[in-house]
Amino acid sequence: MKPRVFVTREIPDNGLKILKSHCQVKVWPDRLPPTPEELRVEVTNVEGLLCLLTDEIDAELMAQAPHLKVISNYAVGYDNIDVAAAKSRGITITHTPGVLTDTTADFAFALLLAVARRVIEGDRATRSGEWLAWEPTFLLGKEVHRATLGIVGLGRIGRAVLRRAQGFGMRVLYHDRQRDYELEGKADLTYVSLSDLMQQSDFVSIHVPLTDATYHLLAQPEFEQMKQGAILINTSRGEVVDEDALVDALNKGRLGGAGLDVYSEEPLPLEHPLQGFDNVILAPHLGSATVRTRRAMAEIAANDLVSVLKGTAPCHPVKEGG
Ligand code: GLV
Ligand code: GLV
Repeated sequence: MKPRVFVTREIPDNGLKILKSHCQVKVWPDRLPPTPEELRVEVTNVEGLLCLLTDEIDAELMAQAPHLKVISNYAVGYDNIDVAAAKSRGITITHTPGVLTDTTADFAFALLLAVARRVIEGDRATRSGEWLAWEPTFLLGKEVHRATLGIVGLGRIGRAVLRRAQGFGMRVLYHDRQRDYELEGKADLTYVSLSDLMQQSDFVSIHVPLTDATYHLLAQPEFEQMKQGAILINTSRGEVVDEDALVDALNKGRLGGAGLDVYSEEPLPLEHPLQGFDNVILAPHLGSATVRTRRAMAEIAANDLVSVLKGTAPCHPVKEGG
């Protein structure tokens, strides 16, 4: 008998095809995710679970799934999964690093450029008739070239953002738990403390995973250190930023704007105060959203799930501590 697998949402068909050739597959048919209760029912008999970053996979859920051997997360971040609980049950977790690195870095840069040069405000002005004439002081933005970019978290995606910043002639500072002396020697890249990064950067872009150590990493003290008019870009996880402190800094006019792709609560509620700022771009978690990348993620997630069920080593296991 083929092993049973539950997939929590429709993923690109190349991934489903791989799964279906080795497993009995059930795919959650709705556009909206299963509720925690529905998910608990679905996992009762499965050996494999392919889930999204929006599915909370906690100890309680795992307790309902006595046959579960593998959780394949259709994402690079896996803060939605209780890694320790999985480990204690001997469940393997896999994720999809690598294939979305450049894709997410492109999107961080898209937000950075769009906020700096007021692309969305310009589009709105064109459509609403506010564009009356070419005016010397209409919708003036902030220069990107030769500005200072502070990268918080120099992992795979942070490095890909660095490469883009170099093309724009930016000065790049970074902060991370670890220094990369080799890269500092090769690239025009300076390691600084988080507070120096906040004080010196015209743009701050976040690329850390969400962990206990990075929860609210940027909060009121960090925003107070930011340069007047600086711009924050977040394509990592919403909870890395204290959103109340961000709203406060925007209200006070300390920040020049923000480009956000991730939020503490997703979808971002319509009544959330962040919805009220013209100088903030609110993207609906699109960092990895290209056709090629989402297919590549589907292939990796499906192949790794199948590998574990066949008793072979997956290519992208989550190692404890990331
Ligand atoms: C997206 O946010 C991911 O972690 O893949
Ligand atoms: C602007 O469009 C210019 O030609 O300077």
